[in-house]
Amino acid sequence: MIPWNHLDTAQIPNDGGELKFSQRGDEFSIKITGKRGELMNSRVFNSEKALSRLGCAHIKPHLDAHILVGGLGMGYTLAAALKAVNADSFVTVAELIPQVVEWNKGPLGNCAGNPLQDPRTKLHIGDVKELFASRAPSYDAILLDVDNGPKGLTHTDNNQIYSEDGLKDIYDTLHANGMLAIWSASPDYLFTVRLKKIGFRVDTREIQARPGKGSKHTIFLAKKL
Ligand SMILES: C[S@@+](CC[C@H](N)C(=O)[O-])C[C@H]1O[C@@H](n2cnc3c(N)ncnc32)[C@H](O)[C@@H]1O
Repeated sequence: MIPWNHLDTAQIPNDGGELKFSQRGDEFSIKITGKRGELMNSRVFNSEKALSRLGCAHIKPHLDAHILVGGLGMGYTLAAALKAVNADSFVTVAELIPQVVEWNKGPLGNCAGNPLQDPRTKLHIGDVKELFASRAPSYDAILLDVDNGPKGLTHTDNNQIYSEDGLKDIYDTLHANGMLAIWSASPDYLFTVRLKKIGFRVDTREIQARPGKGSKHTIFLAKKL
């Protein structure tokens, strides 16, 4: 068994703890210290890609789109979003932790095919919430995978994103018929109810962690009508 090699540590803002970045052979892992567990593993990305595929399925290929991805992680969702839209579209990716961006420019780059180097990628280093503050319709799809579901795991500040006020901001930031897609490790009935209360039409899909196997993850698909 190849041992894990610790590569780097990053601070989560506002005393939120630490992210530990490790490598074992060609496998990478980002863990949150303490009992919060693994945030992302480079070998498990089927549902992360499905988040983009499903969240962008309504976008017609001849239309130029603007997609927002939060956060970067290992770049799988970003790469799949770039694949889902045409050559004149662009994808903004928001990443809270600057070191995660550095890891993607370095050892993680090859995992998802270096999506940060795509000229259609725009990088926002900071909290994805900052991009909802204008409440101006800006995006055709917002693809969120910043926690392991609609609860602040990376950071308790993320709870605001999933609150009624946070979801209203996201609703306003989407174009008409735009889609909010959220990755979750498990279903959450009360969250579905909250999304509907804001005015979204909600559908959920179960996607396996690896093609044809592994635990089932939930993708919330919330459409602005
Ligand atoms: C589970 S990983 C994302 C995995 C990603 N979908 C992929 O394909 O690799 C979560 C990422 O979101 C970032 N993040 C957490 N909270 C954030 C926030 N409020 N704004 C922007 N990025 C955030 C984390 O630092 C981490 O890089």
